Amino acid sequence: MLARMIQRRDFFRLMTAAGLFPLMRTTTNAPPAPAKDDPQNWRWVRAQFEIPADETYFNTGTLGARPRQVTQAVANHLREIEQTIAHFDYKPDHPEYIAGYGKQDELRMKLAALFNAKAREIALTQNATMGTNFIANGLDLRPGDEVLMTDQEHVGNKGPWELREKREGIVLRKLTIGTPPSDPETVVRVFTDAITARTRAIDVPHITSKLGIVMPVAQICATARPRNIFTLVDGAQAIGHVHIDVKSIGCDAYTTSPHKWLLAPVGNGLLYVAEDQLRDVWATLASANWNNYNPADGAFRLMQFGTANLSLLVGLGAAVDFYNAIGAQRVEQRIVELSNRLRNGLKTIDRAHIDSPTHPAMTCGIATWGIEGVSGTRLMDELWSRRKIRVRSVDEKSVRQSSHYYNTPEEIDATLEIARALTRNA
Ligand SMILES: Cc1ncc(COP(=O)(O)O)c(C=O)c1O
Repeated sequence: MLARMIQRRDFFRLMTAAGLFPLMRTTTNAPPAPAKDDPQNWRWVRAQFEIPADETYFNTGTLGARPRQVTQAVANHLREIEQTIAHFDYKPDHPEYIAGYGKQDELRMKLAALFNAKAREIALTQNATMGTNFIANGLDLRPGDEVLMTDQEHVGNKGPWELREKREGIVLRKLTIGTPPSDPETVVRVFTDAITARTRAIDVPHITSKLGIVMPVAQICATARPRNIFTLVDGAQAIGHVHIDVKSIGCDAYTTSPHKWLLAPVGNGLLYVAEDQLRDVWATLASANWNNYNPADGAFRLMQFGTANLSLLVGLGAAVDFYNAIGAQRVEQRIVELSNRLRNGLKTIDRAHIDSPTHPAMTCGIATWGIEGVSGTRLMDELWSRRKIRVRSVDEKSVRQSSHYYNTPEEIDATLEIARALTRNA
């Protein structure tokens, strides 16, 4: 018996050393020197990514690149599980080997701090789409009840509501906000004017997918709250990109995809539901705790998806550590600097057009732009073939360029140089 206990103790020491126990305490090595105010620091940060030095990645809006520390955390965890799987005895003091059943309190606490939320207000999902589905299907709505959104939603944010519209007769109203809108006040007015006695929910993006419009989400939620209208913010493009404070936004729910700007492994998502609104959201993906209304467990009811990959959660924790080590403010500042450099440069090129907003309160790291006479696909391909710069073509005339902290001023300048050359030859 004692031998068995000692064995157990050794086993746990081993696991702790390996960063496996407690699993959610797994951390990466925080980025060391050079110091943050040393200009070399950003070079060091860039070197933590596996993208070859001669390739430039500007498509974080689709999928972020992951620092090596995150990939290693996932790989190490996967391997350790394989090596020690026979030790997994399901007893309470054994580390978990699977996600989908446990509460993951420590990780939820770490994530909640990114939003100014409480751990119990966070559900771990798989992406933003899953979070929107939980809200769209979890609210009690009757035929004829209205849901307002913009005319520029990502499919993952409108699909869940469209399904319910077709199946149950709710009414979706997609409001025209402008491409791009001129200013935040106009957008708020569009929403305020559209509210009727039948409006039950508003679902708006924090940052739109195609043009990167930063929406006046706090003002829209402030309009909705006194009228008892449920508000969901689609923050797929926001986490790790702009500051998020769900309490000052005042939304009832917030869904996001950390595999984009937070640079977490694909397969992770977060759904925030304000404590005072949780009772109004049914679980629509059910397992053991679908009916758990214990306030202390909160949104755990909305993470009942059965066996899932715990290593991805370890990677999510590592991504938050990496982000925190760099510093949220520095990240945001760097993104603004790079994106402004791009916009300012484009403004000096005669036949270049910027489709993204120009109002300073509505701009972010996403700039959608093009060159008259050059198709979006051609522009994308020219950037790649001339200088291995990856942007994403979004339509006939434009590309979307997402500047993140791992990009450099030189990469922006190289983009502009090619844009200028194309203007001359187009
Ligand atoms: C604004 C917005 N909402 C929702 C989504 C869907 O994200 P996911 O596929 O990670 O659920 C995206 C993806 O690009 C997006 O840009």
